[in-house]
Amino acid sequence: MDKGMGPVALPRQHKKRVQLAFILLATFAYCLSMLSYFLWSKTRTETLPINAQAIVAQCSALQLTPGPPDNFHSRTESDRFEKGTKATLIRNASIWTGLDEGNEIVYGDILLDKGIIQQVGAVNLNSYHDVVVLDAAGAWVSPGIVDLHSHLGVDSSPALRGAADTNSLKGLAMPWLRSLDGLNTHDEAYQLSISGGVTTANVLPGSADAIGGQAFVIKLRPTAERSSSAMLLEPPYSLNGVHVDPFQRPRWRQMKHACGENPSRVYSGTRMDTQWAFRQAYNTARIVKEKQDAYCAKALAGQWTGLGDFPEDLQWEALVDVLRGRVKVQNHCYEGVDIDGMVRLTNEFKFPIAAFHHAHEAYMVPDLIKKAYGHPPAVAVFATSARYKREAYRGSEFAPRILADNGLDVVMKSDHPVLNSRHLIYEAQQAHYFGLPANLALASVTSTPARIMGQDHRIGRVIEGFDADIILWDSHPLALGAAPKQVFIDGIAQIATPYTSVKPKFSQKVPATPDFEREIADAIKYEGLPPLEPKKAESDVVVFNNVGGVFLKDQSTRSVNEVFTSASAEGVVVVEKGRLVCSGDCATDLSRSDAVHIDLEGGSITPGLVSYGSPLGLSHISGEASTNDGPVFDPLSGNVPEIVDGSIIKAADGLLFATRDALLGYRNGVTSAVTAPSSYGFLAGLSTVFSTVAPHKLVDGAVIQEVAALHVALSLSSRISVSTQIATLRSLLLGAGQGEIGQRFGDVVAGKIPLVVNVASADIIASLLVLKKEVEAAKGETIKLTLAGATEAHLLAKEIGAAGVGVIVQQRPFPATWEEKRILPGPPLTQSSAIAALVAHNVTVGIQVAEVSSVRNTRFDAAWAGLESNGALGKAAVLALASTNLETLLGVEEGNSDLVATKGGSDFEGKVVAIISPRSGMVNLV
Ligand SMILES: *[C@@H]1O[C@H](CO)[C@@H](O)[C@H](O)[C@H]1NC(C)=O
Ligand SMILES: *[C@@H]1O[C@H](CO)[C@@H](O)[C@H](O)[C@H]1NC(C)=O
Repeated sequence: MDKGMGPVALPRQHKKRVQLAFILLATFAYCLSMLSYFLWSKTRTETLPINAQAIVAQCSALQLTPGPPDNFHSRTESDRFEKGTKATLIRNASIWTGLDEGNEIVYGDILLDKGIIQQVGAVNLNSYHDVVVLDAAGAWVSPGIVDLHSHLGVDSSPALRGAADTNSLKGLAMPWLRSLDGLNTHDEAYQLSISGGVTTANVLPGSADAIGGQAFVIKLRPTAERSSSAMLLEPPYSLNGVHVDPFQRPRWRQMKHACGENPSRVYSGTRMDTQWAFRQAYNTARIVKEKQDAYCAKALAGQWTGLGDFPEDLQWEALVDVLRGRVKVQNHCYEGVDIDGMVRLTNEFKFPIAAFHHAHEAYMVPDLIKKAYGHPPAVAVFATSARYKREAYRGSEFAPRILADNGLDVVMKSDHPVLNSRHLIYEAQQAHYFGLPANLALASVTSTPARIMGQDHRIGRVIEGFDADIILWDSHPLALGAAPKQVFIDGIAQIATPYTSVKPKFSQKVPATPDFEREIADAIKYEGLPPLEPKKAESDVVVFNNVGGVFLKDQSTRSVNEVFTSASAEGVVVVEKGRLVCSGDCATDLSRSDAVHIDLEGGSITPGLVSYGSPLGLSHISGEASTNDGPVFDPLSGNVPEIVDGSIIKAADGLLFATRDALLGYRNGVTSAVTAPSSYGFLAGLSTVFSTVAPHKLVDGAVIQEVAALHVALSLSSRISVSTQIATLRSLLLGAGQGEIGQRFGDVVAGKIPLVVNVASADIIASLLVLKKEVEAAKGETIKLTLAGATEAHLLAKEIGAAGVGVIVQQRPFPATWEEKRILPGPPLTQSSAIAALVAHNVTVGIQVAEVSSVRNTRFDAAWAGLESNGALGKAAVLALASTNLETLLGVEEGNSDLVATKGGSDFEGKVVAIISPRSGMVNLV
């Protein structure tokens, strides 16, 4: 048994023979090695390659880590300095420097010269003669805004087929592609984003591929050379094939990765396919890297025999650099499952990730993120844009705060043009409102992204020696509606003639944000899906104390009126069975012992707001067809099935209740909405008015008004000509419609319901005004016409006002398409905003939102419209934009009579705490 397997004792003699054999063998080996050494040293002198020195240098350089040259901080002039730029002195500023973890504020002056911040604080002008002086009068100064995730220039505005350079569909993993190759120098958004304070952006390829390609950091200003390359900030030395000093540290590179839904959708694959594409690509790069390392180990040891050429592969060199830790990997990655896959990948191939982007579930898995190879990635998120696909469904507005509580770096980003990066500061403001400390909120769009992209040796802070990229603000940058008064990039003032809107005093300080501790705990506890339904107040009598103001709808004049304001503690409002029974001095009513008391801390009671413009109530997750009502047939496309031909679609028939966006709207004071059927074509159908809190259609008050208005859309982007669209509308208004369609257009002509036309171009608006006159002359009746979207309406403000036509616009216009190119951007680029310009011509104006997730922010949009109106719109007028005006324009007869109680002061200091509902006879607490 076990023959030859167990420990067998060797006979003595045998042992001796073994020893001898060993000695002989060792001697032989020694001789052999001496011989080979002799031969080797001989060959070495014979084959030492002519470029040996270059090879040694190249191999040594592989050890260098990226970063600025050692003498960078002694520079006196920026490499981006434009000759002829004068020095600028900004006097008397409140400077958020970004130092001391974002807590340092310096009161003093700033000197910009040679593209660099030369002095901060007490400035010495001894050696300067020709200096432009700007008096900040105490205003806030911050570093220029740094956008870690943008598609500026590659997804250009206006969107044209020739301007779609974001995604390549030629493979799943293409580290060799470079966003620079598509960087359009004429994107209309550069100037707009600069006017919002954005000075630097990381331009990423899109997320259609697992590895979409290399990203490039740009400064947004126009350059003397007018080239794409001239916009780059510290591109890799090798980019233009220029000579690389091998002893110089390399510069940071950037690369886009994407996991989850986008790559799977584009390639009809799965998460498994995407992850394999990553592993396959990284394995290819690993093999190249290991060959290089083996080669260099030999070269550096002087073993030149048969060494050959340095192993290189142009397609994979960038990914090899990732493995060498020289690339900032910017990883679009949303869900826990995807983050898990990427964390495994980093540990399998040993490379760090700079940041997880979008990352709507990151706040639930902080410990997982900390397991990533090298260091925990930062997390770059939107503030409140969420639920647009499964990956985003559990997104939370409290994510920035929770991530920061877990010690992770938080970045707010735009994904421009997904969010217009002009308003990236608004993302930081919202993050602050929902609990991110002010120092981190400001850092989240300045110093933190600068560090995450490896540029924090020169941008993201206001300190001596840094690039002269700064913003002079009209209010505290975390206050709602904060807008730059001037923006400097490389020391050059970017706005030729800046306009400002006078801001209220309170907006000069950091907003005192509300307490959201309970909501923050619930976001984690319920994994992003906390219950949103309100609770009924426990008594019929609710007493609101410390009420700062009461604003009510006046149904006869269709306006909002201020009925009561109080700066003292005497502001009391008593509500009984959902009805306001007393406001002002109500001391006598306070005796009821069972009353619920709510301290509003100076907050106000205002009308319930109305939402319009998004598919609210028809959609749970916009990217998931099975969660939506779906689009209607476009009659102009010619393929409407006979069974629906001639019938008109009613949004009321498709209503979905208790969507998270409707409930979030309710909790933020939007108590009803008007929604039209979803349509990509000419005729949408009839809108409906519904309650945002009703659990289903059959409860009392769920559908407030079954039919509101008739909706059509006219657009240059349609496949059918605008003249055909107008001709169709003319025929329908003159009575050519059959069945229900004919009947409803009859109602429009008789002035019974408004015609709401979704339209952007001023040219189409002009044709509509002509058509309105024509039909009215033919029929002898006045049509109620409302223009929605109406991005270019301000160009015809006078004519629209004279025609008695109403307009519904988005609060922040953007030239997304050609037909909305001519926006009125408002301060600091123009004195007037579009809303203010229309109001100045007596046009009834309402505000709309495009996305269901924006509904919750309606009260911020309305307040913002007031803040940039230079005093033209007071609080009552602002509330009317999102309530009575919308109801007038959309044919809402009575609307909702709810009142909203907000605790705390204005804008970002207030939190909705109760909804008073006369219809249901109760008060809901949220
Ligand atoms: C700075 O501006 C503030 C606000 O206008 C003013 O009160 C203060 O006197 C100014 N300080 C200096 C040094 O000019
Ligand atoms: C707007 O209406 C007011 C009050 O009716 C009137 O005085 C003013 O002239 C109108 N403005 C324009 C531009 O029509």
